[in-house]
Amino acid sequence: MTNQKAHWLTCLVGLFVHRVPTVISLHSGSDIAATATVASLANASKYHHADMLSSEQVFTFTGSDQYYYTQGHTQFLVKAYGAGGGNFLRSGTEGGVGGYAEAVIIVPAGTDRLTVVVGEAGATWGDGSSPDPCYHNAFGGGGRSACDGYNTAGSGGGRSSVRLDGEDILTAGGGGGGSGKWVASVECKGPGGSGGGEAGGTDCDSSLLSGQGGTASAGGAGGVGTKMTGGAGGKYKGGDGNSSSGWSGGGGGGGYYGGGAGGGQPFWHGSGGGGSGFAAHPSVVYSGVDLVTGGGALAGTNGNVTIMVYPAACGRPGPSSLPPPRPF
Ligand SMILES: *[C@@H]1O[C@H](CO)[C@@H](O)[C@H](O)[C@H]1NC(C)=O
Ligand SMILES: *[C@@H]1O[C@H](CO)[C@@H](O)[C@H](O)[C@H]1NC(C)=O
Ligand SMILES: *[C@@H]1O[C@H](CO)[C@@H](O)[C@H](O)[C@H]1NC(C)=O
Repeated sequence: MTNQKAHWLTCLVGLFVHRVPTVISLHSGSDIAATATVASLANASKYHHADMLSSEQVFTFTGSDQYYYTQGHTQFLVKAYGAGGGNFLRSGTEGGVGGYAEAVIIVPAGTDRLTVVVGEAGATWGDGSSPDPCYHNAFGGGGRSACDGYNTAGSGGGRSSVRLDGEDILTAGGGGGGSGKWVASVECKGPGGSGGGEAGGTDCDSSLLSGQGGTASAGGAGGVGTKMTGGAGGKYKGGDGNSSSGWSGGGGGGGYYGGGAGGGQPFWHGSGGGGSGFAAHPSVVYSGVDLVTGGGALAGTNGNVTIMVYPAACGRPGPSSLPPPRPF
């Protein structure tokens, strides 16, 4: 089938689906606030249908799971920016840049909401605003760095993802925490690994000292130093540094599989590896998948996620030229 034919078929199916009354599920406990939003959105859908078709919802960092209510739609365009890693101020080493993930997804009929995780930036020791990177895991699975006073490296940034039934369906990895040589007179500033693809941290002294990037099927290995081996990344989680060793190393970025933490040894710390991106959930149909390593948020910057019903309007380029509202 040509793309054009597929597009029109999607539109015809879409016209039908849009006429099916939206089923709203009510939730209890911590979902009470979200339920209120559902009710008012249901009204918006009923009385301003065209606006709903063009609506896009931007999710920014809050520190907890957020929800996107499908309103009976099943096909969406999703754009996710993974968070950047924290910096290492003493040598001016930057954290890794987060990854970028974009796709058109079709979720199973009857899916009433998607969970949205927006990655928190990795922290920088001593910058006056970050939490302490060796005690705080960035939201979205960022790994902690290892504590070493003013030689404490940056922590890993969190992944940004859209989830269904407790599993990620589209993921942009977080960047690894920055570290490197702490004697500033020697030029050696390997940034943290970039999130999103399979990139490991880059350290100019020894690649073994760097945390490795997460891959599609495994967390990145921790960097190996003579005094400290960084923790390995796991599913959704970047590796943590070993604080009790007395040596630092950057934390791994969160991801579908997280990056490893950097290793530590005298004069050298490894940076953290970036987390991997993902777009392969078995019950989701994907098209236009674009996973870009290092295409997300810069070091020290939170991620974000945008979700919109797609296509916004059949046969028309975008939300700015919507057809008149249909009777519901
Ligand atoms: C929905 O719209 C109806 C009719 O305009 C109104 O009476 C009702 O209060 C609205 N409900 C919500 C939750 O906004
Ligand atoms: C952390 O480092 C200490 C000191 O080197 C070591 O005894 C300990 O086994 C390490 N812990 C882990 C989990 O690697
Ligand atoms: C999302 O994050 C990216 C990377 O930092 C930024 O360029 C973009 O403007 C952000 N989008 C929104 C809607 O905040």
